[in-house]
Amino acid sequence: MYSIDDNEVIEIVGKEKLEGELIPQGSKNGALPLIAASIVFDYPVKLYNIPNIEDVNILLSILKYINCKIKFENNELSIDCSNLDKYEIPWELASKMRASFDLLGPIVFKFSKARIPFPGGCLIGNRKVDIHLYAAKQLGFEVEINKGDVFISNFNKSKINKVINFWIPSVGATKNVVFLAAFAANIINDEILVNNIAVEPEVIKLFDFLISNGFNLEYSIEKKYLKIKPFKLKNYNYYEDFNILDRIEAGTYILAALATKGRIFVKENSYFKDYFKLYLTLNSLLNVLKQIGFKVEIYNDGIYCGYEGDNLKLDGDLKSIDIETGYYPEFPTDLQPQIVALALSINGISTIKEKVFDDRFIYVNELRRLGADIDVIDNKIAIVKGGRELSGAKVIATDIRGGAAILIASLIANNTSVISNIYQIKRGYENLINKFSNLKAKIKLRFNKENEVYGYKY
Ligand code: EPU
Repeated sequence: MYSIDDNEVIEIVGKEKLEGELIPQGSKNGALPLIAASIVFDYPVKLYNIPNIEDVNILLSILKYINCKIKFENNELSIDCSNLDKYEIPWELASKMRASFDLLGPIVFKFSKARIPFPGGCLIGNRKVDIHLYAAKQLGFEVEINKGDVFISNFNKSKINKVINFWIPSVGATKNVVFLAAFAANIINDEILVNNIAVEPEVIKLFDFLISNGFNLEYSIEKKYLKIKPFKLKNYNYYEDFNILDRIEAGTYILAALATKGRIFVKENSYFKDYFKLYLTLNSLLNVLKQIGFKVEIYNDGIYCGYEGDNLKLDGDLKSIDIETGYYPEFPTDLQPQIVALALSINGISTIKEKVFDDRFIYVNELRRLGADIDVIDNKIAIVKGGRELSGAKVIATDIRGGAAILIASLIANNTSVISNIYQIKRGYENLINKFSNLKAKIKLRFNKENEVYGYKY
């Protein structure tokens, strides 16, 4: 949730062209489910390429509470959950991040029950969990909501429905259902089918990780179904895996570089199968960038994006943006605020429609403080009048991606901007001051010594 208790701020002097190379971090939304899933194994798991960011550290603090041993150094995470002994997560820990709800499925798989605080709303919308709870009931569990907790228990195999249809391809519900259905499939010794699952790369990475550890899953990315069949967990002494790259972090830096009319080369990692390669996971973004008129080139070792090219002679050659967000492989909602920031630097009227979350434009108020001319219609469509001069101001990071958009807008504004509540940005972006500095941004982190944190609570 929104808070303004940070004692550090980010200071940016705008109007510098970003230029250089980015080595993307490990994926935040890839790491969280792998970490949560690791609790079901009795053997130690080592995960490479885990970003050292607030959201990961909060999830690790919850794992420590339920008695997992953790070692996290240099983006390598060792997890030993052989002594896991708690199926309840207290509010004090769970309220710090929504992704603690990712533990629901793994805990139920392990203990046949779980008690987890009902996740609250947040600054991007309602974020309901009705599909998670529907799936649990369909799979034979009782679901109780009491004193703010979701309690899943009393599994009854005679109540199982072996076909589950999601009405939205929810990322969170897909991650949880795989464990609930695996538990049920093992007891009835039969297969369970889930239709209309999420196929985000981070979800598919979770499936592959579970398959490597013995889960018997069959999935179709095209038809969006998942079959969960009876299985036995592997009897490893030890298991290790490599987290995928963060397409949203990479996309954020690409959009920042282009907004400043600069250029960037984003390094690919050849370790992964095609589905996880950045140039594919960012395909929807890269297509939009080409349509705008930027130069986009794909190489074996990375992606080049720049404000240059045969098709671009004058500023006026850039076309304004007209897009809508959607479920993978459509344009990611997690890049919606950042592309709104890019639209501020492009002449003409851009239209960006949010279709995944019901309230993901709160950050727009902060962009307005920089002088942005943006109308938001029904909390769904941002109409951006681009190409106007922005001027540096004191602004507040509202949420992770909204905060990233505010940062990008500060990079293109005149003079100095000071961003407070940067905890929100740090939730998702590792080492961001160094990374932006390496790209030649004039950016620094400093104490909020003059007590500049101000503003109202959203
Ligand atoms: N929804 C329901 N009922 C449910 C579940 C979801 O109506 O039971 C609705 C939500 O209210 C929302 C939409 O479905 O409007 C999408 O929700 P989803 O469950 O797919 O998202 P999530 O699991 O809560 C993850 C990412 C988000 C990312 C979304 C969509 C993590 C930890 N979070 O959230 O990441 O935006 O998928 O891709 O993986 C971020 O990184 O900034 C971020 C918000």
